[in-house]
Amino acid sequence: DLAEQLATALPKAELHLHIEGTLEPQLALALARKNGVKALLDEYADSEEVLRAAYRFSSLDSFLRVYYACMAVLQTEADFARLATEYLARAHADRVRHAEVFFDAQAHARRGVSLATVVRGLRAGLHSAQQRFGMCTRLILCIQREYPEEDALCTLHEALAFRDDIDGIGLDGSEVANPPERFARAFALARAHGWRVVAHAGEEAPPNYIWAALNALQVQRVDHGVRCLDDPQLVRHLRRTQVPLTVCPLSNIQLRVCADLSVHPLRRLLDEQLCVSVHSDDPAYFGGYLNDNLLAVVRHTGVRAADILRLLHASFRASFPCERARQHEA
Ligand code: ADE
Ligand code: ZN
Repeated sequence: DLAEQLATALPKAELHLHIEGTLEPQLALALARKNGVKALLDEYADSEEVLRAAYRFSSLDSFLRVYYACMAVLQTEADFARLATEYLARAHADRVRHAEVFFDAQAHARRGVSLATVVRGLRAGLHSAQQRFGMCTRLILCIQREYPEEDALCTLHEALAFRDDIDGIGLDGSEVANPPERFARAFALARAHGWRVVAHAGEEAPPNYIWAALNALQVQRVDHGVRCLDDPQLVRHLRRTQVPLTVCPLSNIQLRVCADLSVHPLRRLLDEQLCVSVHSDDPAYFGGYLNDNLLAVVRHTGVRAADILRLLHASFRASFPCERARQHEA
């Protein structure tokens, strides 16, 4: 099948990926043993099968509980470097040429792991992928919306010490009841310091969250955004402005944003001529990396070869350009 061949073989950009969401059970247990994280080993009987069996979710929040618990195994700079290195080798195998990687700072800080440890470790992993694969990489700190804005502001002030290691600021975490406009000051501060800004919006929550991400936070991309289809005026706006939506099909199924791929909104988003691309969100938890997501939409949503070309082209169009690559071209 031509669409499947193109999806597998062509170069692509990954723009919606939480690095903590690439923690495979095998690595989680290895790090738990190394770091003596007994609670996790006990809860999952030190077994990959038992841990993977816990990856059954009924909503975003039911996933976030497991995801935040498993993060406890990440403790040293070397742990974060290994996590990033292992992910980027998989991404390279999927022909990812440009990877923008999200990380959560506040969850790590709350369990005593400093921003310096996280950023230095991830940067080392990203740097090695640049060296080994010639991949362009970017690091995006996500503000966690379940915490107050004061917490976000403190995190951003701390992040200023790593201004050049962090390429952008995002917004993630428990969406419903934590609307974007609560973070208007934090995002204004991020923009004032020249950071690019993105936000999760319209994953579970209604279209007004997407409007707020655009208007109150002035984001350059919307992560998920699939619920825009509930608001025709918003769809017209997104078509006119071509603000990119980073859509994660397997995530949407696993978190019950939609019932199954045959009713996934991707086909309609393409038909509405929006700027959409396909990404993997938390692939260790949702059953597949980037090529798995692309193959799934080819097989189950009526996405054809020409659509794959559009999706992959959009992934690069929506990416934050890579200075290093530009220098090479110049
Ligand atoms: N953190 C990790 N994955 C997430 C998602 N899909 N939505 C919100 N926060 C997240
Ligand atoms: Zn996400």
